[in-house]
Amino acid sequence: LNKKPKLCIIRVEGDKASERYVRNKNKMCDEIGILNETILLPNDVTQEEVKDKIMELNNDVECSGILLQLPLPKHLDEKYLLDQICPYLDVDCLSSWNIGKLLKGEEYVQSCTPKGIVGLLKFYGVDLKGKDVLIVNDSTIVGRPLALLMLKEKATPTIAHIETKNLKDKIKRADIIVLATGNANFVGADDFVKGQVIVDVSINVGTDGKLCGDVVKSDYNKLLKKGCLITPVPLGIGQTTVLSLMENVIEIAEKREEN
Ligand code: GUN
Repeated sequence: LNKKPKLCIIRVEGDKASERYVRNKNKMCDEIGILNETILLPNDVTQEEVKDKIMELNNDVECSGILLQLPLPKHLDEKYLLDQICPYLDVDCLSSWNIGKLLKGEEYVQSCTPKGIVGLLKFYGVDLKGKDVLIVNDSTIVGRPLALLMLKEKATPTIAHIETKNLKDKIKRADIIVLATGNANFVGADDFVKGQVIVDVSINVGTDGKLCGDVVKSDYNKLLKKGCLITPVPLGIGQTTVLSLMENVIEIAEKREEN
């Protein structure tokens, strides 16, 4: 690249976890040489003010990616604001245009968490073709785009959500289970069968104040003995999400230089 890529992050104050996530993104940018700027807006910022900031970044020729860190305070309309980001700078693939492109299999860049999950599974030689993938999350950041990427890999995804019946039975029947329920200790070793692949996306704070996923941490060894594979929390999908974001910023910067 002739010019260093630059990631612009907008964070509205008020969410403790977001502070940590954004710090990790800044740190990774610094480590690999991506310029980055974080615009911190006060908790009572108006919708118009956030929109103005996005518009300013849309017109900034130095910017190779805009990320609006979620969640936003309740008075701000997330969907509306995400759609103000220029689709060609939408590193997170959260704007309606990019989600539409993803549905058609023509995505400009891929959603970060799903991209990281598919990349990680492939890296460890987990074959996806024809596999039953149960995704326990129906959000626009994780579950829905992941189902689309799994379809692209010719896997058979199922999305489970809060109203899904017999979830524990469904978990036992899948080849690959992706969990993002946000409930610490939601499942343990007895909920899985031999040889399953478990992807734990959640980053929860346990009763001991430590970070943990949806799977009981003290059961990891039991799962490994059963021949299962499991991603740890922390330092699992959290890391691959940030890496995918870095890849997306670089991809966008490359596309911008080509044009
Ligand atoms: N909040 C938690 N994860 C994410 C993410 O991947 N992107 C954005 N924009 N906000 C988040």
